[in-house]
Amino acid sequence: MSAAGLFVTFEGIDGSGKSTQARMLADHLRQSGHDVLLTREPGGSPGAEDIRALVLEGEPDRWSAETELLLFTAARRDHLERTINPALAEGKIVICDRFADSTRVYQGVSRGNLRSQVDKLHNLMIGREPDLTLLIDMDPGAGLERALSRGTGEERFESFGTGLQERMRQGFLDLAGEFPDRITIVDGTGGIEDVAADIQRIATDRLT
Ligand code: ADP
Ligand code: TYD
Repeated sequence: MSAAGLFVTFEGIDGSGKSTQARMLADHLRQSGHDVLLTREPGGSPGAEDIRALVLEGEPDRWSAETELLLFTAARRDHLERTINPALAEGKIVICDRFADSTRVYQGVSRGNLRSQVDKLHNLMIGREPDLTLLIDMDPGAGLERALSRGTGEERFESFGTGLQERMRQGFLDLAGEFPDRITIVDGTGGIEDVAADIQRIATDRLT
């Protein structure tokens, strides 16, 4: 646990249920009397939301993997300065839908082979890990079907297809091996309520 507050992130491939589960955990913890801030990346502050539009809309080859890495890191820095750190300093539980593990996997492994640059930029500009990361793991075919069914127009990444999603799934599982104390794998294939119950149990254990 941080000096103040608790920083929880959700990670996983597109459509694995991160936003749904982040919202449900936030509701559950609020009902239990906690002060919770629910946020997301890319985005979570006005400047970072502007960067989100740049990076998620348009053609798949709009940015190189290197430029994407800079844009995601710029958005994260703004989000940390203006949203996450102030909330943690006030003692809140911050629940964030995606954070630096997404960069390690998307820019570091699947979109480009940039893991060493990802780590250098992270150390230089972010330097913060979550207290707890819930990795929702599931079959990419099913995840992609769920993600495309949303029809939000933010499908630049989903349009890369299932081969890439398969590499990302493995990339996330490898990260769970790299950071075993921080990352807990959650099976995302069950019904929404079942997955939520697993997550509530893990988060409650972490809080006590
Ligand atoms: P992510 O944020 O990981 O992309 P979402 O939470 O937006 O995923 O979920 C993608 C879609 O799948 C949504 O339409 C959501 O209602 C649905 N969904 C989420 N979790 C489940 C689940 N466990 N079973 C079936 N559908 C789900
Ligand atoms: P988002 O709407 O969070 O994804 P989801 O479809 O899972 O709800 O969109 C974020 C997209 O941006 C997603 O495809 C992953 C990608 N991304 C990166 O490539 N690097 C990053 O650092 C982050 C935070 C996201």
